Amino acid sequence: MNPRIVLVGPMGAGKTTVAGLLGEALGLAVRDTDRDVEAAEGRSIADIFVDSGEAHFRALERDAVAAALAGHDGVLALGGGAVLDDDTRAALAGRPVVFLRVGLSDAVKRVGLGSARPLLLGNVRGRIKALLDERTPVYEAVARWTVDTDGRTPEDVAAEVAKVVEA
Ligand code: S3P
Repeated sequence: MNPRIVLVGPMGAGKTTVAGLLGEALGLAVRDTDRDVEAAEGRSIADIFVDSGEAHFRALERDAVAAALAGHDGVLALGGGAVLDDDTRAALAGRPVVFLRVGLSDAVKRVGLGSARPLLLGNVRGRIKALLDERTPVYEAVARWTVDTDGRTPEDVAAEVAKVVEA
């Protein structure tokens, strides 16, 4: 099985929302590796980070991505940090990967300053800026297409993703 669309990008890019809209519009099943990790572990990502540490979460995430790439043929949204893993990047080669780009201010607005995401605790804006600076080149390297999301509705973004992937 091969996912028809794989969405990558940072927290606040709208991957989960856009994946849901694409699934509805194209009649495809939707999968999200964050939800897969939580379901397999029976606990939230925040709890996994706090109780077992980020390295453990990354190992679970790597397995969840590999399983989804092998076993899902719809729309797949990856957690924001999944592309940092070497095996994951190799597994994404040749796949229909779309990078949902987002700038700092829209990302901060979308995740909210009171975010429950463990990597953002303390200083949401500063942490997002650091993550965007560090990861943007990685997202660009794994993606076949980039779709800008700043100032746009998820519906508009999903329509462009469908268009570039089908083209
Ligand atoms: C993370 C992004 C989150 C989640 C975890 C770590 C990251 O996923 O996997 O909190 O490293 O960017 P979303 O991008 O779906 O929020």
